Amino acid sequence: MDDPAIDDKMRREWNERAQKGYMQYTGGVRTGMEDDYVQAGRRDADTILKYLGGEDTKAWKALDVGCGAGRILQHLAPRFGEVHGVDVSDEMIKLAGERVQGQTNVKLHRVEGSDLKAFADRSFNFAWSYSVFYHVPRTVYYSYLQELSRVLLPGARLIYQMAQLYSLRRWLQAVFRVEPDAQDTNRRRFFTKGHFRELADRYGFEILSMEPGNSHDLWCQWRKK
Ligand SMILES: C[S@@+](CC[C@H](N)C(=O)[O-])C[C@H]1O[C@@H](n2cnc3c(N)ncnc32)[C@H](O)[C@@H]1O
Repeated sequence: MDDPAIDDKMRREWNERAQKGYMQYTGGVRTGMEDDYVQAGRRDADTILKYLGGEDTKAWKALDVGCGAGRILQHLAPRFGEVHGVDVSDEMIKLAGERVQGQTNVKLHRVEGSDLKAFADRSFNFAWSYSVFYHVPRTVYYSYLQELSRVLLPGARLIYQMAQLYSLRRWLQAVFRVEPDAQDTNRRRFFTKGHFRELADRYGFEILSMEPGNSHDLWCQWRKK
């Protein structure tokens, strides 16, 4: 997918959110306290680490899609050989740069918002994404799945968070595959298990698990075929 107008809108609006209150918009931290922000990042990083288990990942190249201010990246970076954080927002990339200063294995990239052109085919051992794919227009999510399928090595895992169907309204939205507003850059979209299976098939992934997590989180553990 390539829609420069929506890419621009995502960038503009996420730049504004970064300036208005990045802690709240990226980690739901309303206190503005650095300690709370670090702790919220640790909580979500720990979930991802749980999926990685005891695997030796020291030589891996990993990717964080929609890294925001580096909330999770800062905790996971020591686990990998090289980590790339990508984000559509220049402001978020700036904040992430400040946060991971000194973590020399981290590289940050401002991307256009629906592709991973900067990266070669089959170049990553692992990818994660938190609180991104269910906020973006559905077509942008599909485009990232296609791109992740291209840049991940066969057998590599993709761990990402979506939202549970916790009400009838959301369930109906998922069943009828409603795009609530293709121009909205921060609205939740909902998906049924059947739709996830279809997407995994279409983009060359195997679903390893789909599990509820903290609050409304739905953790998706997929593997590139
Ligand atoms: C809710 S925040 C989560 C940030 C980070 N993953 C975290 O958990 O702290 C969503 C992030 O996704 C980024 N984002 C939104 N749309 C994007 C897109 N199309 N491509 C890349 N990043 C995007 C935003 O700029 C923002 O940093």
